[in-house]
Order: sequence, then structure tokens, then C-alpha cells
Amino acid sequence: MFASAENVLILLCLCSLHPTFGQDCPSRQELQGSLKQVQKLLSAHETTCLQSLRNLKKKINVLHSSAGKQTTKTINSTCPKLDTPSNGRKLGKSHSAGHEVHFLCDPGFELVGSESRVCQDSLTWSGQSPVCRDINECASSPCLNGGACVDEVNQFSCVCAKGWAGATCQSPVPTFFITMTNISATTAAATTLPAATTGPFVRPSRCSTVQGTTHCTCEPGYTISGRDSYTCTDIDECELFHNGQAGRLCLHACANTPGGYRCSCPAGYNVTRDGRSCKDIDECATRQNNCTKDHMCINTYGGFQCVRVDCPKIPHATYVKTSPMRCERNPCPVDNKACSQAPNSFSYHYLAVVSNLSAPRVMFRVSALRPIGDTLRFSLLGGRQARRHFTVQRSDRLTGQLMLVSPVQGPATLEAEVEMSELERRVQLGRYITKVTMFVSPYEF
Ligand SMILES: *[C@@H]1O[C@H](CO)[C@@H](O)[C@H](O)[C@H]1NC(C)=O
Ligand SMILES: *[C@@H]1O[C@H](CO)[C@@H](O)[C@H](O)[C@H]1NC(C)=O
Ligand SMILES: *[C@@H]1O[C@H](CO)[C@@H](O)[C@H](O)[C@H]1NC(C)=O
Ligand SMILES: *[C@@H]1O[C@H](CO)[C@@H](O)[C@H](O)[C@H]1NC(C)=O
Ligand SMILES: *[C@@H]1O[C@H](CO)[C@@H](O)[C@H](O)[C@H]1NC(C)=O
Repeated sequence: MFASAENVLILLCLCSLHPTFGQDCPSRQELQGSLKQVQKLLSAHETTCLQSLRNLKKKINVLHSSAGKQTTKTINSTCPKLDTPSNGRKLGKSHSAGHEVHFLCDPGFELVGSESRVCQDSLTWSGQSPVCRDINECASSPCLNGGACVDEVNQFSCVCAKGWAGATCQSPVPTFFITMTNISATTAAATTLPAATTGPFVRPSRCSTVQGTTHCTCEPGYTISGRDSYTCTDIDECELFHNGQAGRLCLHACANTPGGYRCSCPAGYNVTRDGRSCKDIDECATRQNNCTKDHMCINTYGGFQCVRVDCPKIPHATYVKTSPMRCERNPCPVDNKACSQAPNSFSYHYLAVVSNLSAPRVMFRVSALRPIGDTLRFSLLGGRQARRHFTVQRSDRLTGQLMLVSPVQGPATLEAEVEMSELERRVQLGRYITKVTMFVSPYEF
């Protein structure tokens, strides 16, 4: 098209380049014929020229419009808007390609569908649109004793069958419960309820209504149990005060009873007046012993002992009972040294103690009433057992004492002998033996 236009121009120029056209020019007719031909040629060229221009314009328009279309396409690179599910939330605002949005459901609802969706390059969302569905709290059949379950948002409620109450219909309603009486603000109507049919450790509560508000209380020893106030359950005092700061509830054994507790004591003890401690029964004083006439009854903690004081049989000396607890040596023949060196007397003492008695502690004292001679000596006789638990010390010039040096766990019977000897210029004048028997009880009381 351009080429043909250029040709036309050249032709025109050719003509104008001939200013001297008239000199040896062809004839007028010839010239006019040529001009007509040129005119024809030019108009033909003009038509094609215009046609091309029109085509060109069209092409430019097409290009222009297609270019415009392309720019609008690049601007719109987001995925379609996503709705927030009802009863839920949508996290993430960007809807452009590559971004993610997340969905959450309100409490009591569960999500069905995709929890997360991604805006893909195709400008569509991945996954399925989520829905928040109400969770069925009744699915686990929470209502007891024939109660009907009503599913609510995030919770359930029970419609209890007749005779049952509580959040899950767990409590029996006492038959005569409750006369609701509306009274003045300051006074309350109390409705005493009959004993429930549910056993001694469960009782109905005592409820009163003041201006529409119900307050329930329990008998002493009972407490409102759990979520509903219709039932009182027994307080286990033994458990509650097991190791209380004020000491144990019971000195020995505790038994829970409906609405209370009872302390008990081991055999040989009686419960004290306050009902919590144990006191020893004096079997010797109350004829609750079977000691025969030639025995002595010794009361011990939790029991008694029948003891018989027999004077010792030792060579060269004989003894006679001068009191129920004492034996004295009969006079010795003259010049019988073996006899005169035997102990002058044996005294017997019985002690009753509790187990695990703290030590050291003085158990017994021996004194010389009228000292003769210049020296008094005290010593511990007896075997290894006596030495393990006892020692003998002088407490003043005329007195020695038997000391317990370590606690003894009962039940046990320990024996120790304390010897007191009188000397005059290192010569023994007399020996006096005290036999101590200690009855240790099985308990620390
Ligand atoms: C472009 O965006 C509009 C609104 O933002 C939307 O309606 C349209 O569907 C989008 N086009 C494409 C091809 O995604
Ligand atoms: C008791 O009083 C409350 C308002 O104080 C009222 O709503 C209720 O119906 C009354 N009940 C009876 C049994 O009169
Ligand atoms: C224990 O005490 C009760 C009353 O406190 C009394 O009746 C009973 O005889 C006592 N038992 C003994 C063995 O002393
Ligand atoms: C007393 O009775 C008990 C049995 O109850 C018996 O073991 C014990 O030997 C009796 N004591 C005396 C001194 O008879
Ligand atoms: C003995 O008594 C001590 C202190 O009084 C105490 O710590 C200990 O547990 C008791 N032992 C026994 C066996 O009861």
C-alpha cells in the first residue's frame, strides 16, 4: 500500500520535473490523453489508499481494545469474596491468590467442611465452604432416671421424670417437698421434711423460702451434697478430722455414724466423758480381775497383772516376808560370813507405764532412812536387758535413782534391780535390793 502511494508521488514529481514541457512536448491531444490516464491512475490509487487507511485504523482499534482488555484482567487477581459461616468466624481478610482464610465455629458448634481455604492461582478457593453445625449435647444421654434431654446451644437441659430433681435428674425428690410459702422479707417459713427414703447417710435438706429465694440447710453432721440442694449427705468426721491441727478426733479409733461419729477404745479402756479419749479401767479396783487371794492385783494401762511376792531362795540365808512387798533376811548364825554378806532385804515394786514413754526419765528412787557407816553406794544389777533400758544415778547423798534411758515399745515387761550398799571404812555393812518390774502397755495412752 505504501509502495503504491510512493509510486504515485514519483509520477507526480516526474511531471513537475519537466518545466520545459512545452518545447519539444507531444501534441496537446497526446498530452491530454496522458493526463487523463494519470488522473485515472491517481484516483485508483486514492481508493486503495483510503481502503488501506481504513483497514489500518481498524487494526489499531483492535490492538487498542485488546490492550485495554489485558490491563483490566491483571488488576482482578483475587478470589471471589467468601462468606463468614453463621455461628462462626472467618480469620484472614486477604482474598488474593496465595492467601489463606480460616474458619472457626462458636462454642457449641462444630465445623463441617474445610477449616482452611487457599486462594489458588486459578482464582478459585480450595476446599469446601464450611458450615457451623450445632453440637448435640444430648447425644451422650446425660439425663438420668428417665429424664428427657433438651439440646440447647452449648448446653442441654433435663426435663426430669416425676420424683427426680437436679441438673441431670440424679436426686430423688422427697415425697413431701416443698410447700413454697411467700412471706415477709424478715421471716422465713421452714418446712421440716420427713426422713428420706434413701438411707441413714443421706437426708433431705430443710429448705425455707424468703421472698422467692430458697435456702436449704442440713441437720448437724450433714452437708448439702453436690450441685443440688435437696439432699444432705453425712459428713465423715473421722476422715475430715483425720490429722487435724487440734489433734485427732479420737484418741484411738473413730467410726463414722449417720450425722456423727463414735470413738472407741481398745480392751481395758473406757471412752472418756468427752467421747474422744480413752481412760484406763482399773480392774484391780473394780473386781474385774481374777487374781487369787495369794496374788496381788497390779493395775496396768489396758489391763492388770496378778503378781505373787515370794521371798528369794539363796544359799546360806533365809528370808521372811515382813510386808506384802518386802522380804527381810533372818538373823544369820554367828560367824556365818556368807549369810551376813547376803542382801539384808528385798523390796518389790511394780510400775505400769505407757508405751514409748519419753526418756531419759526417773522411774524410781531408793533412799537410806537412817544411814549407818560412812558411804552409800548405788548400783544396777541384772542382765543386759536391764542395762539397755536403765541406769542408776545418785541424786543426793542418801538417794539413788533408777533412770529409764530409752523409750520402750510395749507391750513389754522389764525388770531391774537396784542395790544400795552401806560401807564403813570400805567394809560392807549392809546390802538392800529393790526389784523393779515395769509393765509397758501396748498403747501410748
Ligand atoms: C473480578 O472481580 C469482581 C469483583 O471484584 C468479580 O465479581 C469478578 O468475578 C472477578 N473476575 C474474575 C475473572 O475473577
Ligand atoms: C412468691 O413471690 C414471688 C415474687 O417475690 C413470685 O414470683 C412467686 O410467684 C410467689 N410464689 C407464690 C407461690 O406465691
Ligand atoms: C465405761 O464407762 C461407762 C460409762 O461411762 C460405764 O457404764 C461402764 O461401766 C464403764 N466400763 C468399765 C469397764 O468401767
Ligand atoms: C485370769 O484369767 C485369764 C483368762 O481369762 C487367765 O489367762 C489367767 O491365767 C488368769 N489369772 C489368774 C491369776 O488366775
Ligand atoms: C514415740 O514417741 C516419739 C515422740 O514422742 C514419736 O516421734 C514416735 O513416733 C513414737 N514412736 C512410736 C512407735 O509411736
